Amino acid sequence: MKIVVIGGTGLIGSRLVTRLRAHDQQAVAASPSSGVDTLTGEGLAEVLAGASVVVDVSNAPAWDDAAVLEFFVTSTRNLLAGEAAAGVGHHVALSVVGSERLTESGYFRAKIAQEELIKSSSIPYSIVRATQFFEFVNAIADLSTDGNTVHLPPVLIQPMAADDVASALGRVAIGSPLNGTIEVGGPEQFRLDELVRRALAARHDPREVVTDAGARYYGISVSERTLLPRDDARLAETRFDDWLSQSVQQMPATSQPAAVVAANAEGR
Ligand SMILES: NC(=O)c1ccc[n+]([C@@H]2O[C@H](COP(=O)([O-])OP(=O)(O)OC[C@H]3O[C@@H](n4cnc5c(N)ncnc54)[C@H](OP(=O)(O)O)[C@@H]3O)[C@@H](O)[C@H]2O)c1
Repeated sequence: MKIVVIGGTGLIGSRLVTRLRAHDQQAVAASPSSGVDTLTGEGLAEVLAGASVVVDVSNAPAWDDAAVLEFFVTSTRNLLAGEAAAGVGHHVALSVVGSERLTESGYFRAKIAQEELIKSSSIPYSIVRATQFFEFVNAIADLSTDGNTVHLPPVLIQPMAADDVASALGRVAIGSPLNGTIEVGGPEQFRLDELVRRALAARHDPREVVTDAGARYYGISVSERTLLPRDDARLAETRFDDWLSQSVQQMPATSQPAAVVAANAEGR
């Protein structure tokens, strides 16, 4: 089965392509770096020829309100039209848990617009909404940094590993279209401020996380449960602390905390 992964070079896309190939699927990574641009339509007809499934895990290169809306709307329209012409039988897209509660941000208005286009198209579809990736936690810190402090609200968050997002997408991609939306999340809930504090401490990042009920997440005012998945969400296995210690060990030795370098040298 030919499965085209739009955004197949990205954080999730590259992991998904590897997984699908390991399960003997013919996965093709498509993105501008391989000559496929969903925004302009370049290379789209060629890569979709003979495809049974398309998984869209692309992301906009620019996140200002107009650019991100243009990216998700135009790309999705081009993709769905190309799939109809090529006879693709299943469109899978990755979206974000809670998008409808985060529309203060243009990014999430664009994700909702992407979802609506998919739902109203003639192509059978599955939308997979994931919670925040563990890999995104540092970006959350950076977005809320002012000098040496990071102001974050103590709201609940249930993040997950990019590897687990790719696994969930892979299972959906090789199954029948859901013609609906499922949610996936991590195995544990955290307070956002505490999660970021742990992530920064593990990397010996000197920034101080200040708990601030009035602070915004990603520029958006959020409440206790805004970021949480539905009760029927499929939960992934990887725990944050296990992922964190592994990712710290994989950092280049020059930027690893001294204790990790010492432990590695001793074979611990
Ligand atoms: N961050 C989170 O916590 C989170 C949570 C839930 C869901 N999501 C969703 O996850 C999805 C994937 O995110 P990611 O972090 O894996 O993205 P990423 O690492 O930034 O990768 C983006 C991919 O999109 C491709 N791309 C960019 N412009 C394109 C175009 N014009 N045509 C085709 N492909 C294009 C890039 O290709 P090149 O490499 O060739 O430039 C790259 O492969 C996004 O839709 C996002 O909304 C994110």
